[in-house]
Amino acid sequence: MLISGRGSNLQSLIDAAKAPDYPAEIALVISNKENAAGLCVAQNAGIPARVIPHQNYESREAFDRAIDMALREAKIDLVAEAGFMRIHSEWFAKTWEGKLLNIHPSLLPLFPGIRVHQQALDAGVKESGCTVHFIVHELDSGPTIAQAAVPVLPGDTAETLAARILVEEHKIYPQALKLVAEKKVVLKDGKSVFRT
Ligand code: GRF
Repeated sequence: MLISGRGSNLQSLIDAAKAPDYPAEIALVISNKENAAGLCVAQNAGIPARVIPHQNYESREAFDRAIDMALREAKIDLVAEAGFMRIHSEWFAKTWEGKLLNIHPSLLPLFPGIRVHQQALDAGVKESGCTVHFIVHELDSGPTIAQAAVPVLPGDTAETLAARILVEEHKIYPQALKLVAEKKVVLKDGKSVFRT
């Protein structure tokens, strides 16, 4: 998993992967921030964790190549990102195409980018939610694997809405990763193709 911060989605995937029939193992955590709380989540679960600071690299692609090398050394098959605050180079997105997942706290394609919950409140939508998607080169625009919706309630702040959505994030990310690990959804010709 690639993270930059808190690591609550990391925790939810670690918990899901404890089930004996779960088809994926969380084998490596990489953070670009050395103070990411998620590194403690990994440590508590006994999962190898590495810090690869992006500022040590001269370009986006050079940083991505360091991540790629760490992933290959650990024989990683799939990469799940959660709160990883770096945009990938086209090279990385193409190299890992179909094996790269992200979770975003809105019902994409609505509200990509940052300050997502405030964007939803400002737009006056009656519901928002979260999306797990394949990463393609364009930011927050990859084909959808799973979504969950929640109501936006009167008096909501960005914080209360974020908390309501996070509960759903922790449900759908494990489900979406399971589908990808079992090849029940694959990325084909730029679209998510579901197989029964
Ligand atoms: C989540 O809300 C995720 O959707 C967004 O960043 C946040 C990461 O939270 N991309 P955490 O680090 O998984 O707790």
